[in-house]
Amino acid sequence: MDSGKLITFEGLDGCGKSTQLEKATDWLKVQGYSVLKTRQPGGTVIGQQIRSILLNPEHEELQPESELLLYLADRIQHLQDSILPAKAAGKIVLCDRFHDSTVAYQGYGRGLNLNSIESIVEHCIKPYSPDLTILLNIAPETVASRLERRQEHVEKDRLDLESLSFFKRVAQGFQELSAAEPERFVCINGEQEIELIHQEIINILQQRLQLS
Ligand SMILES: Nc1ncnc2c1ncn2[C@@H]1O[C@H](COP(=O)(O)OP(=O)(O)OP(=O)(O)O)[C@@H](O)[C@H]1O
Ligand SMILES: [Mg+2]
Repeated sequence: MDSGKLITFEGLDGCGKSTQLEKATDWLKVQGYSVLKTRQPGGTVIGQQIRSILLNPEHEELQPESELLLYLADRIQHLQDSILPAKAAGKIVLCDRFHDSTVAYQGYGRGLNLNSIESIVEHCIKPYSPDLTILLNIAPETVASRLERRQEHVEKDRLDLESLSFFKRVAQGFQELSAAEPERFVCINGEQEIELIHQEIINILQQRLQLS
């Protein structure tokens, strides 16, 4: 019944999600669209608190299953409190990470069996699957250098401390997810110049969503 769209940005740490999301938001606004720019974890008041638990480097004792459930709790809250109302109001919602990140990071990266959460996902998340997912692909080897560049602005968070083999598994996860749903995913080479990537994203927005 809603007229809005949910567009998610996915990929490894430092692949350029925030950079491109910002530029896409500005472009959409100039075209006259009403846009909600948001992120997971952390898109709501409750989500901000969940985010601070998830990303705190001191939380080494956080159990993998606890981490998984915190991401799910954040996502459900975010959908109901923020994303769905915005879509119903006709907005284009641009979300920095969504459920694909959970599957890639917790499932492929940490090797968790996600069957235990399947019924929650089936009922609370899959019905609201994104209209479009932009996957920015970078080599797992690029992650470290991208994050170093950002060091002056952002403190190291828990995920930044992961190893190369971890990011290789996560990249494999994103690759398999995108291959399984080619209608939803658009994969972009994230190693290109920032402006070139932005132009590709504009083209995709125009084609896939019949925008302007
Ligand atoms: N295409 C690009 N080429 C070179 N550097 C880039 C490119 N895109 C982004 N960067 C730089 O890489 C760093 C990480 O980018 P950004 O914060 O957008 O990534 P991210 O995917 O949002 O990361 P995270 O998952 O950690 O939030 C920034 O310093 C950014 O300026
Ligand atoms: Mg980011």
